[in-house]
Amino acid sequence: MSTPQFPSKLPKVGTTIFTTMSALASQHQAVNLGQGFPDFGCDPRLVDAVTAAMQAGHNQYPPMTGMPQLREAVAAKMEALYGRRYDANAEITITAGATQAILTAILATVHAGDEVIVLDPCYDSYVPNIELAGGKAVRVPLTPGSFRPDFAKIAAAITPRTRLLIINSPHNPSATIWSDAEMRELEDLLAPTNVLLISDEVYEHMVYDGQLHQSAARFAGLAARAFIVSSFGKTYHVTGWKVGTVAAPTALTAEFRKVHQFNVFTVNTPMQLGLASYMQDPAPYLELPAFYQAKRDLFSQGLQGSRLRLLPSAGTYFTCADISSVSELGEAEFCEWLVKEHGVAAIPLSAFYGDGFDQRVVRFCFAKKDDTLREAVQRLRRL
Ligand SMILES: Cc1ncc(COP(=O)(O)O)c(C=O)c1O
Repeated sequence: MSTPQFPSKLPKVGTTIFTTMSALASQHQAVNLGQGFPDFGCDPRLVDAVTAAMQAGHNQYPPMTGMPQLREAVAAKMEALYGRRYDANAEITITAGATQAILTAILATVHAGDEVIVLDPCYDSYVPNIELAGGKAVRVPLTPGSFRPDFAKIAAAITPRTRLLIINSPHNPSATIWSDAEMRELEDLLAPTNVLLISDEVYEHMVYDGQLHQSAARFAGLAARAFIVSSFGKTYHVTGWKVGTVAAPTALTAEFRKVHQFNVFTVNTPMQLGLASYMQDPAPYLELPAFYQAKRDLFSQGLQGSRLRLLPSAGTYFTCADISSVSELGEAEFCEWLVKEHGVAAIPLSAFYGDGFDQRVVRFCFAKKDDTLREAVQRLRRL
């Protein structure tokens, strides 16, 4: 019996470079600085809190919107850090990671034929999500070299069909962060429009050198139109747990939840309870910048004097490197060569662009044990 043929919903989506590089990394026993996840464990207190919730019998469906304790903890944290009070009942929803939060926000707002502006390079789920909703992704490049937002280009891309703009700070893959002035400029630009915003803030607690994370929550004009997305996976070194949050004004949250309830309905109970109890202590997220800044510095200082030119990393657990004085190869070929010949996996920035733009820059993830980073440095210094 043959399987019936049908037109693909995502005909352009194939195997991603992340899968390819991870396979090559394991085949060549490489130090994997490609995919963005820690190679160290989380705080055992967090595992204990989840285990305690399971053992206490909290194993049935939680409320559709998420456990109240966790929503309240998120609302309290956002108020303390960003000065905006979100109503834990009406404005905070717990999701299956940021990925589901972003998909659900897009499905809830984008109608067939609507345009959604994304800023290239961008996280790889945005554009397929927009296409699944029947929308049209409009790719506006960040300024090559600096990765700063180009407001003239964003303004020029806004049309009466623009439903949504997606921003991401701290930014994967460039490791840049938006400044207060840039957030204000965006606020002014969007003020006369009906454009909604998804602010992907999964790296909100990874901002370095004493800078502040400029959450959309800090800006009234942005908060009023924004789904602010975050991820416990990034903050607490548990990317495999896939638990995230969305904060949005009541009217946006109501539409979000209409889709959420028929999308995943809810997110597993013991993880939510464990996270709620662990969040009572703010130290783990307040200490995260120092923890990751030390890793960033170990990696970048180790590569000083090498032929890789590291670009500044102001946030996220990534740092980018200019490869032009190491090799004539394009980014993707360079990454293949690097993993096969030198045993270090990295990701080409071109993977985050719609048109495969190649600026001879690759991304390394430094969310790794110090020993892993030292080993990578040793191998990379041989280039
Ligand atoms: C910018 C960005 N957004 C969203 C996600 C997805 O987060 P989660 O694992 O919580 O779904 C990631 C993960 O790499 C990311 O880098």
